[in-house]
Amino acid sequence: MDGNGRWAQAQGLERLKGHYEGAEALKRIVQASVELGIEYLTVYAFSTENWSRPVEEVKGLMFLLRHHLTAGLNDLMKNNIKLKVIGFLDKLELDLQEVINQAVNKTSQNTGLTFCIAFNYGGRAEIVEATKKIAEKIKSEELKIEALTEEVFAQHLLTRDLPDPDLFIRTSGVSRLSNYLLWQMAYTEMVFSNTHWPDFKKEDLIDAITQYQQRERRFGKIAS
Ligand code: FPP
Repeated sequence: MDGNGRWAQAQGLERLKGHYEGAEALKRIVQASVELGIEYLTVYAFSTENWSRPVEEVKGLMFLLRHHLTAGLNDLMKNNIKLKVIGFLDKLELDLQEVINQAVNKTSQNTGLTFCIAFNYGGRAEIVEATKKIAEKIKSEELKIEALTEEVFAQHLLTRDLPDPDLFIRTSGVSRLSNYLLWQMAYTEMVFSNTHWPDFKKEDLIDAITQYQQRERRFGKIAS
């Protein structure tokens, strides 16, 4: 969800205002995803590198997550949305962890859109943590080296109960992954949009999906 800061600065507003508008855009895109029958939507809301932003901005992003998970819980229930949050959540303040757990638990039986927020998430750290868990299992002989396959490795990632993404959308004219779902996106189709995230609308989502539908996915094979 890139471009919140530039969206705000372009209008002479504080960067934080861009994140507030970004959260509104996110609500619209979640609603649009429900309407379009999308099964999984994962958004990158806070990276492991974002701690080095100004303290007020970090606090603001924490506030936004806390606020929307509290005020928006009824909407999640009404729309049959199952919430997930992936990231190093034990590094967040305890009350925020509590808010996350409550929202995740309350929506856990919902059967519609799975909406996943990556928060204090980093792809490299995720892979290192998975490797540590696997190394422990090999050391304790719970797992044999020969039994370590891609599927087993993926089961140790934070996304263990999510499918790999079909489509990746990055907004605001930036064309890089920025440490997002590095393992999971090996064969993901990528669409880059010039629109800043606060301006991203249902039509932009449909446009990205239309581009996706025109791609030929080969997964390393040749066209049949
Ligand atoms: C990147 O834009 C965006 C973020 C670091 C934060 C994204 C967060 C939201 C959209 C709000 C999330 C709300 C909830 C409820 C999870 P940037 O700040 O890097 O923009 P810039 O590249 O223009 O500076």
